[in-house]
Amino acid sequence: MKRVLFVCLGNICRSPAAEGVFLHLLEQSQAGERFVVDSAGTGGWHVGKAADARMRAAASRRGIHLASKARQLELADLTRFDHILTMDASNLSQVQALAQEAGGSSIARIEPLLSYRSRFDLSEVPDPYYGGDEGFEHVLDLLDDACAGLLQALDV
Ligand code: 4NP
Repeated sequence: MKRVLFVCLGNICRSPAAEGVFLHLLEQSQAGERFVVDSAGTGGWHVGKAADARMRAAASRRGIHLASKARQLELADLTRFDHILTMDASNLSQVQALAQEAGGSSIARIEPLLSYRSRFDLSEVPDPYYGGDEGFEHVLDLLDDACAGLLQALDV
């Protein structure tokens, strides 16, 4: 069993979408029983909330249901997940700082999700929260590309 955690800032736009996109790919490739998938935010402002309605609508148009409720990243995540995939450089350094705190008990391999991209030439998933609808579509395109690469790399 591989345990995969997607992390962004608020856990209401990018990481719940990444979780949904990855779960959708797992379903299509019948690999779901080999993975545990979750998402979390480095910030706690939106804890308990569903994913942003604009992101849910954009995902739904692609047949992807976003069911997760926002939660904040915690120290135990570093000892619970094998892979932690971050959306931007700020998430990455926050997760790395928490891994330092966890010390030797941290088992997670921490990487930018877009290190698994192939079609796009970007290293960070932009936060679509304050932009227009096209930002959500762009995020889903990026996530689709990188999540496919991630699945290929992990499901060997
Ligand atoms: P996310 O986007 O990190 O992709 O979930 C955000 C949504 C809301 C806020 C920050 C990021 N916020 O500060 O309210």
